[in-house]
Amino acid sequence: MLTGKRILLIIGGGIAAYKSLDLIRRLRDEGAGVTPVLTRAAEEFVTPLSASALAAEKVYRDLFDLTDEAEMGHIELSRAADLVVVAPATADLMAKMAGGHANDLASTLLMATDKRVLIAPAMNVRMWEHAATRRNLATLQGDGVRVVGPNEGDMACGEFGPGRMAEVPEIVAGVRAALGEGPLKGKHVLVTSGPTHEPIDPVRYIANRSSGAQGAALAAALRDLGARVSFITGPASVASPAGVAVAQVETAREMEAAVQAALPADVAVFAAAVADWRVENAAGEKMKKDAGGAPDLSFAENPDILAGVAQMTAGRPELVVGFAAETTDVITHAEAKRARKGCDWIVANDVSPETGIMGGAENAVHLVTADGVEDWPRMGKDEVARRLAARIAEALGAG
Ligand code: C5P
Repeated sequence: MLTGKRILLIIGGGIAAYKSLDLIRRLRDEGAGVTPVLTRAAEEFVTPLSASALAAEKVYRDLFDLTDEAEMGHIELSRAADLVVVAPATADLMAKMAGGHANDLASTLLMATDKRVLIAPAMNVRMWEHAATRRNLATLQGDGVRVVGPNEGDMACGEFGPGRMAEVPEIVAGVRAALGEGPLKGKHVLVTSGPTHEPIDPVRYIANRSSGAQGAALAAALRDLGARVSFITGPASVASPAGVAVAQVETAREMEAAVQAALPADVAVFAAAVADWRVENAAGEKMKKDAGGAPDLSFAENPDILAGVAQMTAGRPELVVGFAAETTDVITHAEAKRARKGCDWIVANDVSPETGIMGGAENAVHLVTADGVEDWPRMGKDEVARRLAARIAEALGAG
């Protein structure tokens, strides 16, 4: 529920604006108060009267006059809310936000606010895929702006692809998440992610193909359910999500220290692809080829971070989840790993090169628990993350 929460809803000028009228209703059903703001372009799609009638509040419009200023100035308006939602966020609005423009009421409010901002982009697929929109999206995410959608599907313009505004229930879920109102509110979740780099000498290292995509998606999904997330990541190729506490590490031993420092936690998820071995005799200076022959490297086993936490005698997280990336006999190995490491669940997947999973956008996992094995269909890593986060909330009795 969103009882007592105040949402400033900026409605941009796009065909999806009609859904924003329904969004006003759903937010009010949850107990939130909604102050609508219509851009000039939005008024071509929905009327101020319908937005005002549904919100049961005054609508602020682009063309606001001095009387409006006397009632509530734009600074106050932008800060009286608990959350600012932009739906639909058009390509133009996103560009203005990313560029820091303040040349109409909506963009001025977005510049003046000190509150979290959630955007629900909606635009033609080509516009969504345009390099400028990609850049603007990355800038906004880097600024901590939350994004829900867009979805893929048939579009009003007759094309197909990503660009449809997220459905109203998804936006409501995004609002709850942005306000930290999810089922994992008050829970601390630790997530490890990415590869580790084990130095051979100051310039060379041993690594693996993990991109960190699944771990990052999981941290974001847990955050979206209201958890406080400690995200401990090796040198990943995907960005860390906004709104989580990030510890950047390089080696397995650094990762272990960061995990210990982040404990205690209610849940610990180990999605990192930790190197099993490190070079024991790593050189302090760059090794020279002309020294003759191949280097004589000797290896030492790295600490098993997951097993260490799963087998803690005091202060063990209530739920410890490991991952098992295998190329053969995925489930047999995963079941054995669950027993050997002492964790509660193993998320197992086949990372044979032909699956394209390692470093790719999709994953096909099996969830191995004390109750047996669930085979999940192949889906996007984001979707795997959302389902897993929901299962975690359920297991904690918070779902
Ligand atoms: O033994 P294996 O590397 O296959 O186990 C994979 C699981 O154990 C993953 O959850 C991984 O994050 C974790 N792990 C770890 N520390 C290690 C090796 C693996 O936390 N040194």
